[in-house]
Amino acid sequence: MRRVISLIDMDCFYAQVEQRDQPSLWGKPVIVVQHSRQGVEGGILAVSYEARPFGVKRGMTVSDAKQKCPQITICHVPIGEYADKADIQKYRDASAEVFRVLNNFDSSIIVEKASVDEAFLDLSAYTAQKLDEMRENGTLEEFVETALSQLPSTHLANGQDFAENDHLREQFLSEFIQNSTYSDENLLLLIAACTVETIRKRIRDETQFYCSAGVGNNKMMAKLVCARHKPRQQTLIPWKYVREILRLTPIGDVRGFGGKFGNRVQEMLNISLMGEILEIEWHLLIEAFPDQHEYLRAVAEGLDDEPVRPRRESSSIAVSKNFPGKSAIRTTREMRKWVEGLVKELAKRLVVDQVENKRTAENLVYSLLTEEGKPQKTLKIGSYLPNSLFELIWTAIRGLNRSNLAGNEDSPWTPPVLNISLSASRFQPGVPIQNRVITEWLGEKKRKKEARMNAVYDENDGREDVIIEEPPLPKPAPPPKSTRIVFDGSHECIVLDSESDEDVDPPPPSPPHRNPFFLNRQPEIEYIQVGGERISRQAFRHLPPDVKKQYEHRIALEEARLLKSKAEAKGSIGRKRAGSIKSPAQQPKKLKPLEAFFKKKN
Ligand code: TTP
Ligand code: CA
Ligand code: CA
Repeated sequence: MRRVISLIDMDCFYAQVEQRDQPSLWGKPVIVVQHSRQGVEGGILAVSYEARPFGVKRGMTVSDAKQKCPQITICHVPIGEYADKADIQKYRDASAEVFRVLNNFDSSIIVEKASVDEAFLDLSAYTAQKLDEMRENGTLEEFVETALSQLPSTHLANGQDFAENDHLREQFLSEFIQNSTYSDENLLLLIAACTVETIRKRIRDETQFYCSAGVGNNKMMAKLVCARHKPRQQTLIPWKYVREILRLTPIGDVRGFGGKFGNRVQEMLNISLMGEILEIEWHLLIEAFPDQHEYLRAVAEGLDDEPVRPRRESSSIAVSKNFPGKSAIRTTREMRKWVEGLVKELAKRLVVDQVENKRTAENLVYSLLTEEGKPQKTLKIGSYLPNSLFELIWTAIRGLNRSNLAGNEDSPWTPPVLNISLSASRFQPGVPIQNRVITEWLGEKKRKKEARMNAVYDENDGREDVIIEEPPLPKPAPPPKSTRIVFDGSHECIVLDSESDEDVDPPPPSPPHRNPFFLNRQPEIEYIQVGGERISRQAFRHLPPDVKKQYEHRIALEEARLLKSKAEAKGSIGRKRAGSIKSPAQQPKKLKPLEAFFKKKN
């Protein structure tokens, strides 16, 4: 049995994100432009469908676009907080909203994220199950009779669909529906087309975004026909019409043939349409493509067995910056500045990813492009803290400076660097304990913001349970107003703003004087001190439960020791065993769990 596959692709995605941000832009010509660099206006990344009839296209200059469509609105991709990088986080966040809908639609549908704005769905199991159910409960006939009404934006790719009007669209679909009663394969496609209409409607209802889709028997055909009737439409390609469609399809339109390989196929075989491959004599095809002739014929016949892989997140998170020509980096100071900036940007994205996807990167690959080569190396990430990441990378790349004068900030950097790339990969599920507190705060903050922004969000997206692996805190820890992470050389502490007000629990009932380990020196902020370690009381309340428990245990132990020592001192001065009980300040530093929690991991 053939598979049932769909590709869903958002329409002019970045432009829709801007239109949603500024609702007055819906229905208007809009372009999204990369921010300018060194005075040169950036390229056009996305063009709303309203701007397309004017001839505005991606890659065109902004002034050309303005000339073609004077009323066009220009939206700029925000500049990143660090390193002068474009900040595409808002489009990523919008993408995550769409994927939330896709991933929650039905667990028997496999979802593969193919890019920021498109996903492959394997609906084989889902549609087979639906067909069985309809047969069992006798509703199949009714489904077939009403199917047309469930397909308001569906087209049938039969080769004549480009010239169709709505009447013909319905006629083609009706014929297909009638014939499908004799073919399970077509019934499954029909169920898939109705399901994809529903999924697209849900995306629209929950995110306001419009999208298009293709439905067929494999990824290649689903992707190909998705582009056939855009925007806000979907296209169904039954197996019967695959050859006919490919016969007239430009080679470059097929997935995997848009680049160099596709060009080579066209040049070597002197053809331009996919179907023409089947007209070439076998021996000539083998001669031209000895290793790929079978693959080429399979594609031309519409065969593609690439599975839809359940993949939710990208496998790497990278930042990079080009320094072309004269802007090449030539001093240690400049190098340090850019590496610091890129590290901050990377750290920010990694933390956001950690919150969202509950995973942690293990590897960090740096690469420096110079005219003499591209040295690169894989490093092990010990911590997501910008300072640690920077030290890790700086230690590794400092030695790449071949200048004789290397050593101080003002020394030259040789050879000049044309690009710096940092890429984190090898994600492992979970969040290390030292990051979890921060992650939970951020997660909580993010959830609150999302709940405010979009009431239709399903807060429990099925992934929530993975955040905290320990039992939950007795009372959910409120996110502090702001947090800072500081280094004191050997430990990192989370410092809470002292003026955190309504979000923070009232102070605990036990008065400070009863506990000798509370050093309440300031009215607003309380600290707990054990064995020379000092932590704010609020931060203490937010510690992971297991660390907190051990901490409490130590406090109780020290309290008991102190009381005992007082009693001994009072009762029998003569029986004093020197050194047996130490004051908190004299306690040896054996704070294993705490140190593990606060330790700067490198
Ligand atoms: P696409 O899906 O290729 O295009 P699109 O969604 O803008 O328009 P269409 O309706 O034709 O699908 O890309 C998705 C987004 O990715 C796009 O809105 C902007 C971004 N993008 C880039 O930033 N650079 C690029 O080179 C491309 C192709 C896309
Ligand atoms: Ca798109
Ligand atoms: Ca796309």
